[in-house]
Parts: sequence; C-alpha cells; structure tokens
Amino acid sequence: MLDAYILGIESSCDETAAAVVRSGEELISNVVASQIAMHQPYGGVVPELASREHLRAIVPVVRQALAEAKRSYESIDAIAVTQGPGLAGALLVGISYAKALAFALDKPLIAVNHLEGHIHAVLLEERRKGNRELQFPVLALVVSGGHTHLYLAAQKGEPWAYENIGHTRDDAAGEAFDKVAKLLGLGYPGGPVIDRLAPHGDAKAVKFPPAQIKHADRRARKDNRAMEAPFDPADHPRFDFSYSGIKTAILRYVETHNLREGVETRQQALAKLTQPKLEDYLAHCDKTTLDLIASFQRAMVDDLVEKTLTAARAYDVATLFVTGGVAANRELRETFEQEGAKQGLPVYFPSRPLSTDNAAMIAAAAYPKFQAKDFAPMDFSAEAGMILR
Ligand code: KG4
Ligand code: ZN
Repeated sequence: MLDAYILGIESSCDETAAAVVRSGEELISNVVASQIAMHQPYGGVVPELASREHLRAIVPVVRQALAEAKRSYESIDAIAVTQGPGLAGALLVGISYAKALAFALDKPLIAVNHLEGHIHAVLLEERRKGNRELQFPVLALVVSGGHTHLYLAAQKGEPWAYENIGHTRDDAAGEAFDKVAKLLGLGYPGGPVIDRLAPHGDAKAVKFPPAQIKHADRRARKDNRAMEAPFDPADHPRFDFSYSGIKTAILRYVETHNLREGVETRQQALAKLTQPKLEDYLAHCDKTTLDLIASFQRAMVDDLVEKTLTAARAYDVATLFVTGGVAANRELRETFEQEGAKQGLPVYFPSRPLSTDNAAMIAAAAYPKFQAKDFAPMDFSAEAGMILR
C-alpha cells in the first residue's frame, strides 16, 4: 500500500474547508470555516457572498489544516479539491487555490466529485474504527441540502465506480428541512433546529399523504439523466424521491390553522438572538407547531428509510451507507439502524462532523485516485452540475 498524505480542499457551498488525511484512513486534521452566520439573514446561501467569503477564508483555512496536522506544505503528497457539483463561483475559489499550490509545490492535483466525497466519509469513518471488511454490493444514500441520491458503489480495481438508481425529482431532503424551518420562522439552516425540536412534539399529530411521483422529473434535463441511467429499466428499477409536496402541505397547514402570526412573532424574536439555544426555540414554539415539526421529521425519515430499504432489497445489497448533511439527523440514524437490523443489513454513517460538508471526505476520496495516478490536468475547471458515475 502506497502511504500518502493528501491535503483536501472543499468550497462547493457555504463551508470553506481543508483537511489532511493519510492514505484514506487516518484523519490528521479537519478544519471547517462555516459561513452560516453570514447567510442567516437571507434564509439561505447567497452565491455571490459565498464566493467572496471563500476568497477570504481559503488561505488561512488551508494554513490551519497544515498547522494542526504539523506538516509543511512540502511534505504533502498530493492536493485534492472538489470539482463539482456545487456553486460555480464557490468551486472556482477552491480549485484556483489548489492549482496554485500544486503548481508552486510541484505536487499532483486530484479532482474529486463532492458526492463521491460524501460516500468516502463513511469509508474514512469505518477505517478510523479499524473496520476494513466491506461487503459488496454497497448502496449509498447521499442526503444533503442539495442532493438526495441513491448510488450502487463498487470498487473496480483502485478507482471506484457508481451507478445512480434514484434521485429527487424536485427538492432535496435537506432543502425541505431548510424550507420548512424558514416557513415556520425557525431560521437557517433548518435541519439541525428541526432535529432538536422534533422530540418535543407528537410525531403522530399530523398525517401527510405519501409523496406521489407523478410529475415529470424537474431535474432530468439539468442532471442529464439519460446519461445517468443507460440501463434497461426492467433490470435497473429506479427509486426516486419527491419533497416539494410535503413543503406545500406544511404551508397549507400554517394557513388553515392560523399559525402565520405566531410564525412572524417567532421569527422576529429569534432574529434578535445571536445564537438561540434549544430553550429559546422551545419558548417560542406552541404545541401545534412542535407537533407539526415532529410530524414533518417523522414523515421525511419514514420516506427516506422506506425507499432506501426497498431499493436495498431490490438490488440485494450487502451494506448500506447513509451520508450527507441530513445523515446527521438523530431520528434518521436511529430509524435506519433499527430497520436495517430487522433486515440483517449493516448500516454505516459518518460521525456527525463528517456528515456535513468537510474536506477530509475529499482527501479520503482522492486516495484511490492517487494510487491509480488519476491526476487532474492543470486546465480542469469547475463543473457545477457534475454527475457521479
Ligand atoms: O452536506 P451538507 O453540509 O451540504 C450539502 O452538500 O448540501 O448538507 C447541508 C444540509 C442542510 O440542508 C441542513 O439543513 C441539513 O443538511 N442538515 C440536517 C441536519 N444537519 C444538517 N438535516 C436534518 N437534521 C440534521 N441534524
Ligand atoms: Zn455536501
């Protein structure tokens, strides 16, 4: 095995991150500078602001990752960077800096797909725990603010190969958490707040109709889906998701139950606090709202778990990975563990810090490419809509 220290750089969305990982298995340093506070007043990520903040943060974040790893720039074996998918302007900051470093230090450059990074966060986590036994086929659910994808993953020689067998037709799961939180005046990002509030409500209080996938695939053209699924549909059934309906159902619930005034008061009260605590959120949420939050989270978790486990059975997989920002969700983890155990299916997650965007996952995903000498040319560019295959 070729030992290698890889510096990873990630700037696809609203986190500027750098990390040093040894040979895809040892996490030496992991620095994440979050821009959440800056985007918060806008209730979502503002692309122009994200690029500007990445520019500000990239040099100190990389410097800190190397300092914490106690390694010099020269002692790094390769530089890995996220190529896509993500915000084009944000990606370009990381890519430009990675290229400059690779050129100045005369080190190989490795381009990594962000989604592959999320999958390798799970592998990094397991290797850190000493688990090197991995049963194939592997099914990976990548569930974040921008993505809800199901991939079959296989290691064909050194590089990995992926086949997409499902994705969201409209909103990503994390996007639904964020939009619902915004709708309820809970601020941005919504996932972590809903996660903490849900245990305080009754998850059986509100019933949502199951997601109906009748509409055309809103993302088909953008993702170039034809290229993603070049197989006979009979042998390769798809398991798509849809989360725009539940968001609309919540909006309707707010209207029909006269919750709007309460939402506005809550939003104004919480906006005055720099870092609201759980008690602050609870103090501003009535029982109807807490029940709605708990019921929403339960519906999201049930849908994600049920579809993923149905896909796992259809493809007779041996191992399940659940990764991406939403994989940090407690109820999602517990439900996957319980339901996976019932089916005798081992389910692996990254630790919570490795679930959300980070650069350690990029450095880990780069290691098989390093071994295969799969280096990027100096003129490669950002690919905002990059597909994983
Ligand atoms: O992977 P990530 O950091 O960025 C993307 O690649 O999108 O995921 C961010 C998303 C946001 O939508 C956020 O609300 C959601 O992950 N998220 C959560 C939790 N923590 C983050 N969703 C549910 N429960 C959580 N605990
Ligand atoms: Zn991500």
